[in-house]
Amino acid sequence: MLPDVLIPQARLATRITELATEIRAAVPDDHIHFVCVLKGAFLFLADLVRVMDERVTMDFIAVSSYGAGTRSSGEVRLVKDVDASLEGRHVVIVEDIVDTGLTLHYLQDILRRRGPASLRTACLLSKPSRRKIDVRVEFIGFTIEDRFVVGYGLDYAEQYRNLPYVGVMP
Ligand code: IMP
Repeated sequence: MLPDVLIPQARLATRITELATEIRAAVPDDHIHFVCVLKGAFLFLADLVRVMDERVTMDFIAVSSYGAGTRSSGEVRLVKDVDASLEGRHVVIVEDIVDTGLTLHYLQDILRRRGPASLRTACLLSKPSRRKIDVRVEFIGFTIEDRFVVGYGLDYAEQYRNLPYVGVMP
């Protein structure tokens, strides 16, 4: 059975265009270096960079996630590091969802130590009621309730990432 639609494709597209404008206005340079957090943010990044006109580069990082369940173990592990140096670059982390905040807190901490000129974070989704750690996210697509969402990059046991919308299991 397919998940129910929570955020339809058209609303995602509209909001992502707005986010691009917000990012452009905030980053004080015409070169933005995106660091996409795999795997969940791959579609968000793909759509975001395609509505940006400025000079854009991108890199990818992967951290351990939920495995096959729906709850975080609270433990974050670096699975794949970025390829290029972040030194002196205006970096925007691109993440699918901020839930407890533990993953982003860890990522911001390690990336900040690489000497970027600036470091900001864009998250497609945020579940503020689940936050365990205070983490700064400059750009948020949608704030949602505490429901497990799938689609548009997000998975349940590696399934549903290809859905063009954000959905919830019925
Ligand atoms: P956090 O460390 O608890 O903030 O969790 C962040 C990561 O958990 C995200 O990057 C997702 O991979 C995963 N995650 C959190 N909530 C959901 C959800 O509702 N659906 C799918 N993955 C989720």
